Amino acid sequence: MLRFCLVFATLLSFGQFADHDTFKDCARVNFCTTLRTRTPENKYSVDSDSVVIDPDGGQLKFDLLDTNGSDNLQVIITRLEGDNFRVQIQEPDSDRYQLQDVLDGELNVLPNDKIVIDPDSYTIVTDGANVTIQFSPFSIEFTTNQGPQLVLDGTRLIFDKNLDKAFAFGVTFPQAYQLYGIHEHADGLALQTTQVGGTDPYRLRNLDVSGYELNSPMSLYGSIPVLYGHGSEATTGIFLHNAAEQWMEITNGEDNTQAYVMVESGALDVFVLLGPTPAEAVRQYVGLTGTAHLPQLWALGYHQSRWNYVSQDDLKDVVANFTTYDFPLDVIWLDIDYTDGKKYFTWDPNAFSDPVEMQQNISASNKRLVTIIDPHIKVEQGYNVYDGALEQDLFVKRADGSNFEGDCWPGLSSYMDFLNPDARDYYSSFYSYDNFPSTTPVLAGIWNDMNEPSVFDNSIEKTLPGDAVHHGGVAHRDIHNIYGLLHTKSTHQGLINRDNNTKRPFILTRSHFAGTQRYSAIWTGDNQAEWGHLSVSYSECLDANLLGIVFCGADVGGFSNNPSEELLQRWYQAGAWLPFYRAHSDSSSQRREPFLFNEDVQAVIRNAIQLRYKHLPVWYTRFYEHTRNRDPIIRPLFYQYPSNVDVYNIGDHLLLGDDILVRAVTESGVESVQVYFPGGTDEHWISISSSDVYEGSGFIDVPVDIQGIPVYYRKGSVIVRKDTLRLSSDEMVGDGHTLHANLDADNKASGTVYLDDNTSFNYVNKEYNYLKIDVDGTDVTLTKIDDDANSDGFDFVIDDVVVNKIIKKPQNGIPGKYETKIYKKTVDGQLLKNLKFKFNDIVTIKLA
Ligand SMILES: *[C@@H]1O[C@H](CO)[C@@H](O)[C@H](O)[C@H]1NC(C)=O
Ligand SMILES: *[C@@H]1O[C@H](CO)[C@@H](O)[C@H](O)[C@H]1NC(C)=O
Ligand SMILES: *[C@@H]1O[C@H](CO)[C@@H](O)[C@H](O)[C@H]1NC(C)=O
Ligand SMILES: *[C@@H]1O[C@H](CO)[C@@H](O)[C@H](O)[C@H]1NC(C)=O
Ligand SMILES: *[C@@H]1O[C@H](CO)[C@@H](O)[C@H](O)[C@H]1NC(C)=O
Ligand SMILES: *[C@@H]1O[C@H](CO)[C@@H](O)[C@H](O)[C@H]1NC(C)=O
Repeated sequence: MLRFCLVFATLLSFGQFADHDTFKDCARVNFCTTLRTRTPENKYSVDSDSVVIDPDGGQLKFDLLDTNGSDNLQVIITRLEGDNFRVQIQEPDSDRYQLQDVLDGELNVLPNDKIVIDPDSYTIVTDGANVTIQFSPFSIEFTTNQGPQLVLDGTRLIFDKNLDKAFAFGVTFPQAYQLYGIHEHADGLALQTTQVGGTDPYRLRNLDVSGYELNSPMSLYGSIPVLYGHGSEATTGIFLHNAAEQWMEITNGEDNTQAYVMVESGALDVFVLLGPTPAEAVRQYVGLTGTAHLPQLWALGYHQSRWNYVSQDDLKDVVANFTTYDFPLDVIWLDIDYTDGKKYFTWDPNAFSDPVEMQQNISASNKRLVTIIDPHIKVEQGYNVYDGALEQDLFVKRADGSNFEGDCWPGLSSYMDFLNPDARDYYSSFYSYDNFPSTTPVLAGIWNDMNEPSVFDNSIEKTLPGDAVHHGGVAHRDIHNIYGLLHTKSTHQGLINRDNNTKRPFILTRSHFAGTQRYSAIWTGDNQAEWGHLSVSYSECLDANLLGIVFCGADVGGFSNNPSEELLQRWYQAGAWLPFYRAHSDSSSQRREPFLFNEDVQAVIRNAIQLRYKHLPVWYTRFYEHTRNRDPIIRPLFYQYPSNVDVYNIGDHLLLGDDILVRAVTESGVESVQVYFPGGTDEHWISISSSDVYEGSGFIDVPVDIQGIPVYYRKGSVIVRKDTLRLSSDEMVGDGHTLHANLDADNKASGTVYLDDNTSFNYVNKEYNYLKIDVDGTDVTLTKIDDDANSDGFDFVIDDVVVNKIIKKPQNGIPGKYETKIYKKTVDGQLLKNLKFKFNDIVTIKLA
């Protein structure tokens, strides 16, 4: 009986289930079922007479002979900058679709200076790595100074004409115990082992899966086909440059970590990332697909959304309530119902009769507006967006050549063919102030939703059918997973043009792919008001950060259903530490804007949002540093502490940069939680909500109450904050900074801060103030990091310095203590208040 109750409770806690009749498992996808159960065989060998070495072009080409004599293949291996390699395998007469639009510019190919030729193998020798091509049986083995790292295994290489263009290949990671990556799945941080009879392979096919499930390999809205193999000695990875449907069988294990990748169509085009640290593997991958540009500062503030604010008065009242009830807010959002009959680039003439006045009202309290624009276009003669696209032939077609028409929010809709550059130009032109009537700069960003794309037809998995046709006769199945990427590319171009390239566009997208970071932020789609969904928001956004899409968040409170007050408070507290911070909710859920709760709950939520705003300088500096060094903004523990096996599965903790440790509270009714303190006994973590200090020696049970979640600063760090409370980021512009210096045993601490105009692309031309801050005892030294940067107008103003000094060391799991001293004056009695640092040299001030 007890057992029955437990099972029942577990089921209840899941809320909704995904629709498995609509969304297929491997068993219902022909190429997946067939390829999954193929027995490995030594089918291929290298035709040694065919090897062509192109030393200047950095390529090595050869043919593979099929022992059965029918399916010969060609292989090209290209050496790239940074000891990355590209491996392309295809039929000699291949007409496979070669993906465009994903890589960030041209690849830097390096010459193959040295190739060692043996009777049964060739080896490309570089400083950091060797690539050995074994002739028979065929394999490609990548070896670094840490030993063999990654093997493309010929026995699981399958090209089968009976399966049309489907193919498969296997990769083993000899040094790894655990695989990570392949966003987007509602699963733990570390990938599960999948196997026939057990968990389905992870699927990568962008789909509009409402009510999605946890711990599931089902595909969601986005796909990033990057896999990292991680062990205590080394991290390596692959990036499959292919946007067709994929399934990945995952095996983790000390001696047998491998992946088997099954793909519906397109090219076998794999980039190999040789690490050897997680940080280097991530940088290598991001080097291929690009970094996010800096967001405008306001985009890092708090966003309030709901499906829907029903009228301009409703929206203005919500914004006014944020002010009345003293909650910071930067952006208010409008979902689909603001439009005239879901015709994008229009306004509902009744409920939103005066959008310009509404924008002025929002702007008067220093807030901004974001509205939704989806890629489906209502089929309606007289709707200008439709008429023009019809006339210029810019819609996706059916196999028979007619325009595809399917059901979506407006009813019958056609879909912009974003693969067509003319369609991208056309669509982007509608964002201009002239073409999107009644818009002003207060409409500061755009939300691109439903861009998997979503079609309300369960028989085709709620998306375009694989045989729909794009520009140039390209089948939809070949480019399915980049449809959303191309949508945001068009929107990005539209916003750049709209503002004459004076503002960094802000776009939020649901569908995404490798490279989306160049155009857009992402969120995790239609999650649910469940504790498990709060937890998975951390693992999903950590994963996205390892895969280049750093600007990630999840709907605070959960999109569907109604969170308990406790869950909502915990979500505000946890969400404040994800890069994108937006509350959003479904039309059928109860209103849950923070001012609607009792004063105790309001106080907790207000504190959470205020804590976010206090750390805006940290967020902004980390985003800037990402543009320089490609590093994730939030990081899982294993990324920063790669040799510590104990942290490989921890997905509910994050590090913001390397100095702030956060543990989300994802359990109901707890008085304490297990926090993992990493880094060894010499690493100390200073609580921001008590005077406790913890040593980095693993899990410790830490008391919590509803007022906050565990957040720690690393010993030796300087955290730059803005502690003056305001109601939006615009209102903080004149405020000075507070340095929080967390002294180490030598009384030292250091950090960085970045300032610019918060808006434009001038930072690309080095118009900024980027400083290193060193605290040594009572000296604070500021050093300009780039001598040639122009910091005029971006003075760094310090109000005060908070010095945290450890007075009792933590030991054997027992926390130590620190004390805080606040300095407002220099030695000579001069007030630090409003002291500006504008200099080209090193400046030292003294604390007293
Ligand atoms: C290759 O030939 C062998 C031996 O004839 C046969 O068992 C195997 O099924 C063939 N493989 C394929 C993929 O056709
Ligand atoms: C690569 O091969 C060369 C020549 O065989 C050998 O000297 C070198 O140690 C190898 N390097 C690595 C990283 O395996
Ligand atoms: C504004 O706050 C008041 C007081 O909580 C509430 O009654 C009202 O519904 C709020 N307005 C909106 C649009 O949320
Ligand atoms: C904005 O609208 C709200 C609600 O209608 C109103 O209370 C407020 O005074 C308006 N603000 C301005 C600056 O017009
Ligand atoms: C963009 O530049 C054009 C031509 O110089 C000008 O007419 C227009 O007002 C500018 N638009 C914005 C938003 O600055
Ligand atoms: C940019 O925002 C920061 C943080 O609020 C502020 O200190 C700085 O003065 C702003 N810069 C400009 C040029 O407005």
